[in-house]
Amino acid sequence: MATGDAERALAQAGEAYLPGGLARVYPQGTRINSGGRVEIGGCDTVELAREFGTPAYVYAEDDMRARARATVEAFAARTERFEVVYASKAFPCTAAMRIFAEEGLSCDVASGGELHLALRAGFAPERIYMHGNNKSEPELEYAVTSGVGHIVVDSFDEIERLERVGGASAQPVLLRVTPGIDTDTHLKIQTGQLDSKFGIPLAHLERAVERCATAGLQLRGLHAHIGSQVNDLSVYEALTDVLRDIGDFPLLNLGGGFAIAYTREDRPPPVAEYAEAMLRRVPDGVTVLCEPGRSLVGNAGVTLYTVGTVKEIPGVRTYVSVDGGMSDNIRPMLYGATYEADLVERLGDSVPCRLVGMHCESGDVLVPEAALENPRPGDVLAVGATGAYGHAMANNYNAVCRPPVIFCRGGEARVVVRRETYDDLTRRDAE
Ligand SMILES: Cc1ncc(COP(=O)(O)O)c(C=O)c1O
Repeated sequence: MATGDAERALAQAGEAYLPGGLARVYPQGTRINSGGRVEIGGCDTVELAREFGTPAYVYAEDDMRARARATVEAFAARTERFEVVYASKAFPCTAAMRIFAEEGLSCDVASGGELHLALRAGFAPERIYMHGNNKSEPELEYAVTSGVGHIVVDSFDEIERLERVGGASAQPVLLRVTPGIDTDTHLKIQTGQLDSKFGIPLAHLERAVERCATAGLQLRGLHAHIGSQVNDLSVYEALTDVLRDIGDFPLLNLGGGFAIAYTREDRPPPVAEYAEAMLRRVPDGVTVLCEPGRSLVGNAGVTLYTVGTVKEIPGVRTYVSVDGGMSDNIRPMLYGATYEADLVERLGDSVPCRLVGMHCESGDVLVPEAALENPRPGDVLAVGATGAYGHAMANNYNAVCRPPVIFCRGGEARVVVRRETYDDLTRRDAE
């Protein structure tokens, strides 16, 4: 399978710098510097922790650009009729969205707030796709008055709401379909199965197509997102077959779900294979849209923490606590997402331990079965592959301040989202 130049460069750059499968987990260009410390985007992670504090979300800017380019290349090598749409929910950060707008991607937004960010980041309104299984009338009005290119209609109630929004009559729309396809991913991130809150079941599609016509909406195509972290690519072929059978439309949006490496054992398929699977059964003349989120940002980001306590319980286990946890990465708690951790000055695995956060929940576990090299209070620790759905799902549990987002490039680091302060925590108090 031919891979694009950008993707090949990315793989090569990674493998040259970090041992074993770690290069797949950490951002492109990550390496161990002459001081024996992990360096991201040319920046020493211990220095980053000192300058910006921890926890901190640290991203290699070049990694995001390279993955955007590799995705575009993978499709461009096979067709002229395609669009790569960034699923902004993965990392709804204006600076990152600006990068993807500059790289020529379109944008998927799933709320009025994400639409606000996308417009602020510089996406042309006509390149925006408005999603959501329960869009409110004000959100639909915001989308229509902003000139959003496509609204992805998810229900009959939404069509009624659109009828009430002035100026929506000629709005281009896609219909989100529930294709009835199960994927190999965790149940909570599957979305294509029949029993789902997302989309319109196949049994109701004919009526939905007619309903769009009576509402005067301009139905341009179909959409389905069957799940995330998809490794079995045959589901995209099955999906294309289902959508093709529904009717002839100029646009087919096959969603995202491209898998990433969360651990050094993970070997996600190259993006070229996703493009191949998505395009294989698409009829000539149809434009295919893909909607990746995590694969554009997940491996670009790392969370830096400081180890606070190392507690050995004889005969039981060792707990290593860091200064963040479920407030900056709720995915392990939410659906058992798997991560690994490394001390940035000492890669190694001499001490089996449980990596936990600082929150008042026993379930606040980042890595249940971690292995660190002689962990001590004060050590800077990195959890890789936290670039997607980390910052996005961050919360203020225990009134912790949400971490900053730091972009690194060529040895320069800059804050693109500042750390919250205690004043931020009371800013919305009405009394
Ligand atoms: C409609 C839609 N498109 C795209 C995505 C992006 O998925 P991923 O980040 O796995 O690529 C999602 C994720 O929930 C989604 O709901």
